[in-house]
Amino acid sequence: MRRLRQTEAMRNLVAEVHLSVNDLVAPLFVREDVSEPVPIDSLPGVSQHSQDSLISEVDRLVTLGVPAVILFGIPAEKDPEGSEAWNPAGVVQVALRNLRQRFGDDLVVMADLCVDEYTSHGHCGIVDANGRVDNDETLDLYANAAIAQAEAGAHVVAPSGMMDGQVLAIRDALDDAEQPDVSILAYSAKYASAFYGPFRDAVDVTIADGGNRSDYQQDWRNGREALEEIRLDVGEGADMVMVKPAMSYLDIVTRARMELDIPIAAYHVSGEYAMVKAAAANGWIDGDLAAIEQLTAIKRAGADFILTYFAGDVAGQLGS
Ligand code: PBG
Repeated sequence: MRRLRQTEAMRNLVAEVHLSVNDLVAPLFVREDVSEPVPIDSLPGVSQHSQDSLISEVDRLVTLGVPAVILFGIPAEKDPEGSEAWNPAGVVQVALRNLRQRFGDDLVVMADLCVDEYTSHGHCGIVDANGRVDNDETLDLYANAAIAQAEAGAHVVAPSGMMDGQVLAIRDALDDAEQPDVSILAYSAKYASAFYGPFRDAVDVTIADGGNRSDYQQDWRNGREALEEIRLDVGEGADMVMVKPAMSYLDIVTRARMELDIPIAAYHVSGEYAMVKAAAANGWIDGDLAAIEQLTAIKRAGADFILTYFAGDVAGQLGS
């Protein structure tokens, strides 16, 4: 075996996976009431964009060869239902139109589909009298958001709320709205993770009453359950499925890969990115190398593509 490790050319020849710029999806934040980008302290190098700075950032990513972006919105006003998530003039819908106008079909434009960035209480749906999210009532909100995102030009909608039946509700809504070509990337196996911390700063979300999402996101003690969630979403019409976070859940990625032939995504989430950045800033690790190692490991585990805040950095290193 060592014989095959002696030169870089030989190592490249026998490498089992090659990370490529084509594997990357850049998550981007667009904020309604700003004219300049606002840096996010807990996500060094990532900003809340204005509509204009979003376009410049996507220009940069496209030039680097990044094939896809996924948008998250920060609205000026939040309400209990998160109605800005389906306002045709809402922040993400405006951004989707702008990006489609500029890039047409040369870039895959995805929209995260949830209401937590838009609700005053920070939950991913309608909260009932007991303070719990009402699954079925929430499906109607997701259907509204799906239609608004599709009509604004999303190629892909990505439901991240972990409500039962959300994929079916969204597929039906898209088909009824004559949007049969819009695909669904389901956040199927999404864990109630501590690694989303910086993301909640990024979208200005504080969950009401110090709450968490353990009653709808998955328990990280469970693996078989993730496979069951994935099967359900595929049965409901998901075109692609996602495992999230990535690094602590590579076993789930691999098991999904063994079972499925549709595209599998993994989300290298905000906390995973922030840890690498923080350690690198202290001089404790080489951040660029650590990023490539982690993303390659996600691919080796079986993911077809990776949502990562490192997309721009890594694309710059890999070349297009
Ligand atoms: C929900 C959503 C979250 C993330 C993506 N979509 C947050 C949550 O579930 O609390 C987290 C992504 C990250 O941490 O990078 N709209």
